[in-house]
Amino acid sequence: MKKETIIEVNTKRVCGKTNPMIYGHFIEHFHRQIYGGIFDPNTPLSDERGFRKDVLDALKNIGTPIVRWPGGCFVSNYHWKDGVGKRTPFFDKAWRVEEPNLFGTDEFIMFCQAIGAEPYICTNAGTGTAEEASNWVEYCNLRNEGKFAKMRIENGHYEPYNVKYWSIGNENYGYWEIGAKEQKEWGRFVLESAKMMKRVDPSIELLAASISDLDWNINLLKEAGEYLDWISIHGYWDSLQQVDNPSSYESCMVYTLQIEEQILKTKYILGSLGYLNKIKIAFDEWNLRGWHHPNIHGGDWLADNIISARDRNDINATYTMADAIFNACFLNLCLKYSDLVGMANFAPVVNTRGAIFTHKEGIVLRSTYYVFELYSKYMGDTIIDSWTSDSDFFEVNHGGKTYKVPSIDVIATTKKGSENLRISIVNRNPNQAQVVRIKNNSKFEKGVMYSLISSSKDSYNDVGQPESCKTVEYSIQINSFEAAVEVGPHSVNVLVLS
Ligand code: AHR
Repeated sequence: MKKETIIEVNTKRVCGKTNPMIYGHFIEHFHRQIYGGIFDPNTPLSDERGFRKDVLDALKNIGTPIVRWPGGCFVSNYHWKDGVGKRTPFFDKAWRVEEPNLFGTDEFIMFCQAIGAEPYICTNAGTGTAEEASNWVEYCNLRNEGKFAKMRIENGHYEPYNVKYWSIGNENYGYWEIGAKEQKEWGRFVLESAKMMKRVDPSIELLAASISDLDWNINLLKEAGEYLDWISIHGYWDSLQQVDNPSSYESCMVYTLQIEEQILKTKYILGSLGYLNKIKIAFDEWNLRGWHHPNIHGGDWLADNIISARDRNDINATYTMADAIFNACFLNLCLKYSDLVGMANFAPVVNTRGAIFTHKEGIVLRSTYYVFELYSKYMGDTIIDSWTSDSDFFEVNHGGKTYKVPSIDVIATTKKGSENLRISIVNRNPNQAQVVRIKNNSKFEKGVMYSLISSSKDSYNDVGQPESCKTVEYSIQINSFEAAVEVGPHSVNVLVLS
């Protein structure tokens, strides 16, 4: 007899509104994300602007709400004027390759317009200045006042771009970042940048590079807190930067239990500094898997295999149902903390560790892509009260410790204007299906379950096997206050009850 997990739902108790921007994405000038990823002018698969049409279609299909660009570490030595008008290639010291600058601000804005996403620009707080960042705001958002708006017009773009989201810096707290800064230095730099950027366009929303560390944020928020709408934090749990040895499915399930602590630490820091209801969290780089780029922050500088090492990020076999389950658990937490986490950007969206892989004949939609499709299409816009009991557990030995991992992870939502319940039911269990019984305070007539399934926990999609991980649809007859469904092992499910 399969163990049952009971999910009780109270549709009358609203816990929050979904922030659509938690389904956001990130793309950086790294390896094949831009050139050969979204931008590939030399292939018949691209349109007249050089954008891959299959990638545009895939991103529109999941309703991509926002895209963060151009980095990431890259941005800390990027000067935006090199990427508009007459293009100036430069040696990118972040990733130690030549950047041709053929894809710049104008192309990024056109790309976002093509998929209906908000542009989110991260500015250079490494080698850049407050003035350079504010000039970038002028270029994008002023109608025609001053030389930078006039520069945009001369480049053929009369209408302002009205870019709303701007970040000051990327991980400037880290020794690895070009232009890394001390805590006090960082607070002052953000203050001066924020002053100038807001004077250009007071309507913009400002983010600043942050980390769930009290000392870093004390200085940042004391100096610049009044100007900030968001703080930016990042998370990569399977650290593969130096050695590309992806963790097992079971270890990745342990990582799903470690996401919440970073959100809570940041929440307590914001609360202790009095900014809890003013500043929101943008988890604007997150991925189960750290990007593989060995010897970039020191070590064997002369290694001549930096590109072949980065090619390892494109091995589709890496991205299994572990990645899909992790993504679903991450998004469930963003929904759970919808009062605080207002944006999240999967890092990255195309190639490297992304949801979409491009190749000469087309694209591969990796397991993680289907999680964004499930959530963007079937989850609701209002989080309602739900709790589980009797959830099954399985044990995992990871890092010398034994973890009890709950099989089931759940969040319940409803959709404005419709009476139905939309419940994410994630089964972390690597080999056992689970029976889930939903008890509601109103009667169900029928249900449809959309399930991302695979034959194995280690299944992955690739060229030639595009549907090893795929979404299937089940109809369920109910006519009761309770609904019992079985969810397969290592599966992500959205149950719509009406
Ligand atoms: O591994 C990629 C890097 O991860 C991004 O460029 C940076 O923002 C983060 O450290």
